[in-house]
Amino acid sequence: MTERLNGQNGQAPTVLVVGGTSGINRGIAEGFARDGARVAVVSRSEDKVRATLEALRALGAEAEGFAADVRDPEALQQGVAGLCDRWGPLDVVVSGAAGNFPALASGMSANAFRSVVEIDLLGSFHVLQAVYPHLRRPSSVIQISAPQAVLPMVGQSHVCAAKAGVDMLTRTLAQEWGPEGIRVNSVLPGPIAHTEGMKRLAPSTALQEQVTASVPLKRLGQAEDIYRACRFLASADADFITGAVLPVDGGWSLSGASRVGDALGQALKG
Ligand code: NAP
Ligand code: COA
Repeated sequence: MTERLNGQNGQAPTVLVVGGTSGINRGIAEGFARDGARVAVVSRSEDKVRATLEALRALGAEAEGFAADVRDPEALQQGVAGLCDRWGPLDVVVSGAAGNFPALASGMSANAFRSVVEIDLLGSFHVLQAVYPHLRRPSSVIQISAPQAVLPMVGQSHVCAAKAGVDMLTRTLAQEWGPEGIRVNSVLPGPIAHTEGMKRLAPSTALQEQVTASVPLKRLGQAEDIYRACRFLASADADFITGAVLPVDGGWSLSGASRVGDALGQALKG
C-alpha cells in the first residue's frame, strides 16, 4: 500500500509522528514503518525516543527521532529542520502529543489547566508551524483529537477546551494550506485499550467495564484501528478530504463518552 501514500514517485514516504513514542501514536508510527515508510518520532524523553527507534528499525524501517517538548517551539523547529536536511520534505505529519488527568474544574489549579492547553493546543500549533516549511506539496497532516473535542465530559474541562481548539486549528489550517496542496484532518480516537489515556480516565476495572459498555460497538479500540484511519487519510484515496474530523471510536462520541464523564465525576467527587 506504500505507493498509495503521498510519497515521491517510487520512494518510501517520509512520516513524522509527534508524540510517537508510546500508546496510540507509537502504534501509528509502527504501522507506517510496517507499511514501508521512513518514520521519525519526537517526544520529551530521550529514552522513549531511543527505544521506539530500535523497535521501528527492527520492523525494517529507516527511523530517526529527537527529544523535544511541544511547548518549546525553537526545539521543534531546530529538530524538524535537522531531520529534513537529512531526509528532505515530509509527506505525512501526525501531531499527537497530549497530556491528561481527571480533575474537576472547581479544584484544578490554573497551572494544571494551562499545562494541558499548552501541550495539546499550543503544542499542536507549534508542531504545525515547525513542519509547515518542510511539508511536501502535496502532503497530509493528521491531528490526533479526542471525543472530548465534541462532547463535554465531567472532569475534563481542560482537555475538552484544548482538543476542541485542536480541531478548529485543523479546520482553519485546512483552509489556509489547502491551496498549496496540504491537507489537514483530525482523527478522533475512542477509548483505546492498553493506553495511558485509558488508564488515567478509567483506572478501575469497574470504570473500564463501564467504558466498554458505553461504546455502541461494544469493544475498546486498538491502536491499529487508529493507524488504519491515518493510513487512509495519508493516502491518495483521501486526496479530496481536508478539514475533516473523523471519529474512529466505535460510536463513543455520539453519547457514551459523556456518560463515562458522569461516572468519572462521581469518582472525583468521592
Ligand atoms: P501516551 O501513551 O501518554 O502518549 C503521549 C505521547 O506524547 C508520548 O509519546 C509522550 O512521550 C508524548 N508527549 C506527552 N507530552 C509531551 C510534550 N509536552 N512534548 C512532546 N511529547 C509529549 O497517550 P495515549 O493514551 O496513547 O494518547 C495518545 C493520543 O491519543 C493523545 O493525543 C490523546 O489525547 C489521544 N487520545 C487517546 C485516547 C485513549 O484512549 N488513550 C482516546 C482519545 C484520544 P513523552 O512522555 O516522552 O513526552
Ligand atoms: N490533578 C490535578 N492537577 C494535576 C494533576 C492531577 N491528577 N496532575 C498534574 N496536575 C497539575 C500539577 O499539580 C501542576 O499544577 P500546580 O503547578 O498548580 O501544582 C500542573 O498540573 C502541571 O503539572 P506538572 O507535573 O508540572 O506538569 P508536566 O508538564 O510535568 O506534565 C502532565 C504534564 C501533568 C499533563 C503529565 O501528566 C504528563 O506529562 N502527561 C503525559 C502523558 C499523558 O497524560 N498521557 C495521556 C494522554 S491522553
